[in-house]
Amino acid sequence: MKILVTSALPYANGNIHLGHIAGAYLPADIYVRYQRLKNRDVIYICGTDEHGVPVTISAEQQNKTPKEIVDHYYGSIKNSFEDFGMTFDNFSRTTLPIHHRMAQDFFSKIYNKGYIYPKEIKQYYCPRCNRFLPDRYITGKCPRCGVDGAKGDQCDSCSRWLEPFELVEPKCLICGEVPQKRRTKHWYFKLSAFGDKLDEWIAAKTNWKEHVLSFVKGWLREGLQDRPITRDMSWGVPVPLDQANGKVLYVWFDAPIGYISSTMEWAERKGDPDLWKEYWLSKDTKMIHFLGKDNIVFHALIWPAMLMAYGDYVLPSDIPANQFLNLEGDKFSTSKNYAIWLPDYLRDFKADSLRYALTRNAPEARDTDFTWRDFQAWHNNELADNLGNFVNRSLTFIKKYYGSSVPTASTFAENDNRMLDILHKAPAGIGEKLEQFEFKNGLREVMKMSQEANRYFDHGEPWVTRKTNPLICERTMYVCMKIVTSLSVLIEPFLPFTAAKMKKMINFIPQQWDAISAPDVAPIIGDTEILFQKIDDKVIEIQVSKLKKREISIEEFGKVVLKTGKILEAEIVEGSDNLIKCTVEIGDTQRQIVAGIGKEYKAQELIGKSVIVVENLKPAKVRGVLSNGMLLAADTKEGIVLLTTDKPVASGEIVR
Ligand code: MF3
Ligand code: ZN
Repeated sequence: MKILVTSALPYANGNIHLGHIAGAYLPADIYVRYQRLKNRDVIYICGTDEHGVPVTISAEQQNKTPKEIVDHYYGSIKNSFEDFGMTFDNFSRTTLPIHHRMAQDFFSKIYNKGYIYPKEIKQYYCPRCNRFLPDRYITGKCPRCGVDGAKGDQCDSCSRWLEPFELVEPKCLICGEVPQKRRTKHWYFKLSAFGDKLDEWIAAKTNWKEHVLSFVKGWLREGLQDRPITRDMSWGVPVPLDQANGKVLYVWFDAPIGYISSTMEWAERKGDPDLWKEYWLSKDTKMIHFLGKDNIVFHALIWPAMLMAYGDYVLPSDIPANQFLNLEGDKFSTSKNYAIWLPDYLRDFKADSLRYALTRNAPEARDTDFTWRDFQAWHNNELADNLGNFVNRSLTFIKKYYGSSVPTASTFAENDNRMLDILHKAPAGIGEKLEQFEFKNGLREVMKMSQEANRYFDHGEPWVTRKTNPLICERTMYVCMKIVTSLSVLIEPFLPFTAAKMKKMINFIPQQWDAISAPDVAPIIGDTEILFQKIDDKVIEIQVSKLKKREISIEEFGKVVLKTGKILEAEIVEGSDNLIKCTVEIGDTQRQIVAGIGKEYKAQELIGKSVIVVENLKPAKVRGVLSNGMLLAADTKEGIVLLTTDKPVASGEIVR
């Protein structure tokens, strides 16, 4: 059997955020890492989706060419994926010639089979921009929820699918002009011809996730309509027909074909250009598409219908789509910049802490919420205090009392056997969860084992038996070393960087998944290091305040009165180590402001500084001392930095 795993091709019009990762990428990476540890024939295929309106709109907004946009984001997405530990076998791009050729071939073949036909339709045309407007170039009010800013294909507010003509008070997204309806010709894919086949195909997928099936069945019940698969744009794969001059393939037609062309590119890079066929043309291939729920209909109905129309190629065997991840109670929003972007995260934290949090809280069956507080608590209480603690206490004990050589044992007592039995069952038990895409449960079992191991260590009391009964102590430490060895493999799909560190520390003897039910342990361990440093409240507070909750209007901002001030006097608040009481001059007035900057500044050095003051903040008592206003400062990882003016400025000037 061969396993072909894909993750939805991300649009190359922006960075990846945590919502994307939790939906389509991390679970797939866990899955393929596990399959590789099982020595299975698996490849993991992805790439960037570089066509379509998402890209051209970003380009227009940023005053760049589409090519500049996709070149930039292809690189940055690829890099941050790598730093996050994603192990694609190939990460391609849909602007490559190999993809254009494949997509055109795909179109031509199903066109020749009669599954694509032209049709005259009416479409919105912008008289000022002189062009036909694809769906997402039209905005207006949603006919269902009434919200302004709905797009021609979907309302982001109520998630309803739309047709452009349904929008109330439509406008051209680029220039704001009211569009006109004009006649044009487009090519349609005969999706309606595949209703029965899809019904039958889906009926056999009894083991698919419930929410995926109910979504798909809902669509099938409504009946399938033929879908236009061409667009009036210049950016995209040109439609390979003379009569379709100036038109390109709809991005959702060409993008999934990217799974094929990326596999072809992979084969070429391997020096065996036909190798891709062994996956795509074999009945023996299990093709698994990982994606977020907004992509279900394309992968579970339209794409399989395209594949049925084409013939020959394998159909998806499972589509373990995830629901959505929210962020501190709200939806991720790229347009409002309400998100945590992967490159930003990786600048401040380790990949594994996020891989842990996103798996522990994976939106496998329903939407879940990411909060920085959970992230911190799970890192500190579970990664550091449970897993990290067990590994650390075991290895430092062996290092300290056995000179780093691992004790052995051949007879065991009941408590040892109980622990060894847990180890014995772990690979199969955890593997079963992963095979069923229950990553959250799989991870929970690994952590449960680590918890059991800590208990085993506590009850074994090696620090006592070392003196009272050395044989028992050796036995305990031998079992602990077996557990550490097992854990270093069991956590690898989830926490690959931690696994690599552990393996290095224990001089890991290479062995695959099943073998670690009774692992071989190395005779000598190497240098040890702490696996997880705790994350401070301070660091988390900075992240929380970075999240731009919602936009405010200029009027709202105007309510904050900012003025320049000059510090006349400063002294530390008695009984505190970081509060400084300042007397600040603001024009003709003086007032007392307490600032929490005593760790970074001495009271003395503040005197005479020009500062920026929030003048109309409600007075409050800080540690019993009245503070009437606030000094502006940058909250950085290295501490607080006071804001001052670029040139000398009198106090009392308005800051805007
Ligand atoms: N680019 C799409 C998105 O981000 C996903 C494309 S998946 C593919 O929603 F199958 F079409 F490639
Ligand atoms: Zn216009």
